[in-house]
Amino acid sequence: MKDRILQYLEAVEATQVKDAAETEAFRIRFFGKKGILNDLFGDFKQVPGPEKKEIGLLLNQLKEKAQLRLESFQARHTGNSNQTRLDDLTLPVDFYTAGSRHPLSVVRNRILSIFSRIGFTVAEGPEIEDDWHNFSALNFAADHPARDMQDTFFIEKRPDSNDVLLRTHTSSVQVRVMETTQPPIRMIFPGRVFRNEAISARAHCIFHQVEGLYVDKNVSFVDLKQTLLYFAKEMFGEKTSIRLRPSYFPFTEPSAEMDINCPLCGGKGCNICKYTGWIEILGCGMIDPAVLDSCGIDSETHTGFAFGMGIERMTMGLYQIKDLRHFFENDLRFLRQFESAF
Ligand code: DAH
Repeated sequence: MKDRILQYLEAVEATQVKDAAETEAFRIRFFGKKGILNDLFGDFKQVPGPEKKEIGLLLNQLKEKAQLRLESFQARHTGNSNQTRLDDLTLPVDFYTAGSRHPLSVVRNRILSIFSRIGFTVAEGPEIEDDWHNFSALNFAADHPARDMQDTFFIEKRPDSNDVLLRTHTSSVQVRVMETTQPPIRMIFPGRVFRNEAISARAHCIFHQVEGLYVDKNVSFVDLKQTLLYFAKEMFGEKTSIRLRPSYFPFTEPSAEMDINCPLCGGKGCNICKYTGWIEILGCGMIDPAVLDSCGIDSETHTGFAFGMGIERMTMGLYQIKDLRHFFENDLRFLRQFESAF
């Protein structure tokens, strides 16, 4: 009997199964009514007294081994593993836990897809920029406060003042594209930007923007407004309306900020829209002729519009996220809430 048990121990060790059916066959072979273990325990009764201890130990060892093996097969093939035995190192890892996209990627992809449906193509520019592309070509006067050390992370001061820095907005990509591409240009630029700001629930020193650019003959403010209305409806729902408020940016004239009516309360007023009924989502305007000229596009024959939006802000509005720091902490309890997003 000892030899039989030893043979079965080896057999358990050597068994491999490739699917649920083979797992079940293994279970029946060892644990079935007429299976090996019942058989052996039946025979055990006849084992003479002095051998009982040794054979009994071996028999229990076989039972234990077969059980662990079965559980590991079941975990892999039947998906109803009801055991969490940490002492069994043969158990497979749970390799079906799928990852999911970060909420900022989900929202960025939605923005890109909405604009791609009306013919905007995507481009990216460098995160390490020079003063020309981030500021000067965009009509920022030499003493504009945004150039201040307060806001910009400088990397290298240059004698010719074309300092190297981390871009503070994706508007720098407009310049790079206009310098190298002749109109018509209909493009969108997603990317990461950097500002020397204290980290809080509403601000971070690293965040993400999407910039849009349209340059051609006869582009008007009506085109801008209609493009943004289309975007707002696609992004926030058919009932969304927009409001443009006059604003100022050095690189657009006229400039505006766009609000949408609060998608959460429908404009009635809630704590997300701070009881105004409106949420600001982007800056925009007609490209200043001086910017077109700086980039080598004839402002006599061409006009264009541009807009820029913050992805964090948009994501916070869409998902009612109250603290921007969640995006950067990679806490799985936060990230797992976006598993169904795509
Ligand atoms: N670059 C601006 C910012 O970071 C956003 C912006 C405003 C971009 C107006 C534009 C625009 O293209 O026309 O705040």
